[in-house]
Amino acid sequence: MFAVMPAYPEKPAEIRAIPGRIEWVLSGGNMSYVVGINDEKMPQSVYFGRRLSESAVPPVAGMRPGWASFETPMTTTPLEYAAWGAGLALEPALKVDSANGDRTLILKYMSSQIEANRLEIVLKDTTQPLKVHLFYEMFPEGVLARWSRIENVGRQTFKIDQAASATWNLPRASNYEWSWLAGRWAAEWQLHTAVLQPGTQVLESRVGTTSHTTNPWFEVHQAGLTTEQSGPVWFGELGWSGNWKIAVEVSSTYNVRITGGYNPFDFGFRLPPGQALETPKFYAGFTEGGMGEASRVLHRFQLAELLPSHPRPKLRPVLFDSWESTRFNVAEQNQMALVDLAAKLGVERFVIDDGWFGSRNSDHSGLGDWFVNSEKFPHGLKPLIERVHASGMDFGIWVEPEMVNPDSDLYRRHPDWVLAFPDRQRTEERHQLVLNLAKPEVKEYVFSVIDRLVTENSIAFLKWDYNRTWSEPGWLAGGNETDQINGTEGREVYVDYVRNLYDILARLRKKHPNLDIESCAGGGGRVDLGILRFTDETWPSDNTDALDRLNIQYGYLHAYAPQTMMSWVTDSPNGFDHRFIPLKFRFLAAMQGGLGIGGALDHWSADDLALGETMVRFYKSVQGTIQQGSLYRLSPPSTGAEQVEYVSQDSSQAVVFAYLQAQHNALTYPRVVLQGLAPDSMYRLYPLDPEKYKGPDTVAGSLLMGEGLELNLEGDYAATVVRLERLHEERRP
Ligand code: DGJ
Repeated sequence: MFAVMPAYPEKPAEIRAIPGRIEWVLSGGNMSYVVGINDEKMPQSVYFGRRLSESAVPPVAGMRPGWASFETPMTTTPLEYAAWGAGLALEPALKVDSANGDRTLILKYMSSQIEANRLEIVLKDTTQPLKVHLFYEMFPEGVLARWSRIENVGRQTFKIDQAASATWNLPRASNYEWSWLAGRWAAEWQLHTAVLQPGTQVLESRVGTTSHTTNPWFEVHQAGLTTEQSGPVWFGELGWSGNWKIAVEVSSTYNVRITGGYNPFDFGFRLPPGQALETPKFYAGFTEGGMGEASRVLHRFQLAELLPSHPRPKLRPVLFDSWESTRFNVAEQNQMALVDLAAKLGVERFVIDDGWFGSRNSDHSGLGDWFVNSEKFPHGLKPLIERVHASGMDFGIWVEPEMVNPDSDLYRRHPDWVLAFPDRQRTEERHQLVLNLAKPEVKEYVFSVIDRLVTENSIAFLKWDYNRTWSEPGWLAGGNETDQINGTEGREVYVDYVRNLYDILARLRKKHPNLDIESCAGGGGRVDLGILRFTDETWPSDNTDALDRLNIQYGYLHAYAPQTMMSWVTDSPNGFDHRFIPLKFRFLAAMQGGLGIGGALDHWSADDLALGETMVRFYKSVQGTIQQGSLYRLSPPSTGAEQVEYVSQDSSQAVVFAYLQAQHNALTYPRVVLQGLAPDSMYRLYPLDPEKYKGPDTVAGSLLMGEGLELNLEGDYAATVVRLERLHEERRP
């Protein structure tokens, strides 16, 4: 009998109130988190680390003394959610202007409740009629979500200057290092690691969306203890697709606290009586399994709890996208020719990119006019879609619904729909402006125009693009708004825009349950756990150079699951690095997540097409393992010899990719030492290139994880892949 080994130990999520204290322990996976109410009736962080046994829960320590007359107890005590008040000198979780001029708050405990895996702690300011609800949701994968709701229970309007989702306090230590992801357009997802120094390090976006330059993800490790394979890691990511901020602070006494939520920059959210503002979810976890396991916990969490079709997200089909082959010239005839070639390769989804609508012959015009261009598609989209279906594929289409070109019918009809200030010159990027999605009529337009497109055509997939940052985020009066919106008003746009975007996506998904959506923002400008609740996959970067891509994917996969990561095989050399990379290397690089093809297939040679067919066939044999299995980063791309392994959820299959950028000094390729296999099982090996693997056909898990595999990669841009199948074994007594 074949015994299925679970990919990870099942440990349920639970929340327990500690008898006799106002304190709770939240456990899930391999972590526990403890919070309690201290002697000053303030919620205080107690513990964040490995899973605790029942008897091991420490009590709340209580307010710490201040430091001389310069740091008050508010600053020296690890508080859960400290508003600015009573001398707090660190990043506040909340800062509010009250009608009487008071700009401080002191939040004290009122009540709490536990419902299933969710804890709510209610706080109230000592003088202002303001309540704050702290929410905690514990997941069995070992991830805790925290967020807050700020509620006006008085009769006057508050202005919220700053509202975080949570502060995470880490155990006091002075050997912390941290990692974060930063970059820019076409070079997103660069992984950085540094010693965590006293002071504040800030990750943030002020550009209206998540941003290419920094992603709302972090990891904290301990120097000398943490490696890829073992040691403590605290990690987190924020679920918000607008302006966000994560402040990582090391206080004067080496308290490490990480506060994240809405970016306070230009915030100013008005909160009228009876209303509440909810902050985004800030997810965090802990593992002792090193940086590799921290990523795997996040991947499992995203698949099981977060992605739109969780707990069993649909596999990403192999897709073809027209962008790099036909650019804005996309038209019925040239796409028909590509359909046949794509189908022959084994592609499952055919996507037409930018250029199919309005007067869109370049990026100068047409955005906003979501009607089929009748010169390019004289018979509408139907004939093309029918051909795509007849070839056994489904059909996808590119849209960028939040934007408008000034040269468009939509803009000419509704000039007040864009983000702008009345007398200020507008900054145009890519000849386009951002629509103010926070306005109800804009939201309705965007929903209805995309809904109509999907309803009238048989569309299985939307590539939802977003190609500029915000510059003048003003709310122009117009339509039903008779009053001029002045400077302090209209800043709700930072929250309402994103909420309306989520709402549009949710409504589209509800009305079209089989529709898949990709989040693209000129590459990886909008990837976060907020948008991933509504989109099935993302486009991590416009840079499709296979070598750059290995690095981009390496960073991306630290934070997000392979299932969410689309990558295309494109033509070489491409416009980024002007080097030639062989087609096989390009294919194997693009197989680390969802596989796509973006090359001009009508220019591929017969040999290229034949190789493409073989590669797609191979990919399909491991598609589930790659997209939904456990990822092991055996060797990083910085070595020039990246090795990546995936083990299926039931551990019956594994697949290992090996890349060699350039051979040096006649050295042989480093051994590939696998991880995550069953040591006592035998595995049958199926190398894609038998000449590159000369070892035995079947090898024990312990040997594969001990001595490893010898692969014969030589020269420059060499790559190969081996599939491993676990052999059925008799259960031993
Ligand atoms: C940016 C995207 O990232 C590209 O893949 C492509 O869709 C272009 N936009 C089209 O304008």
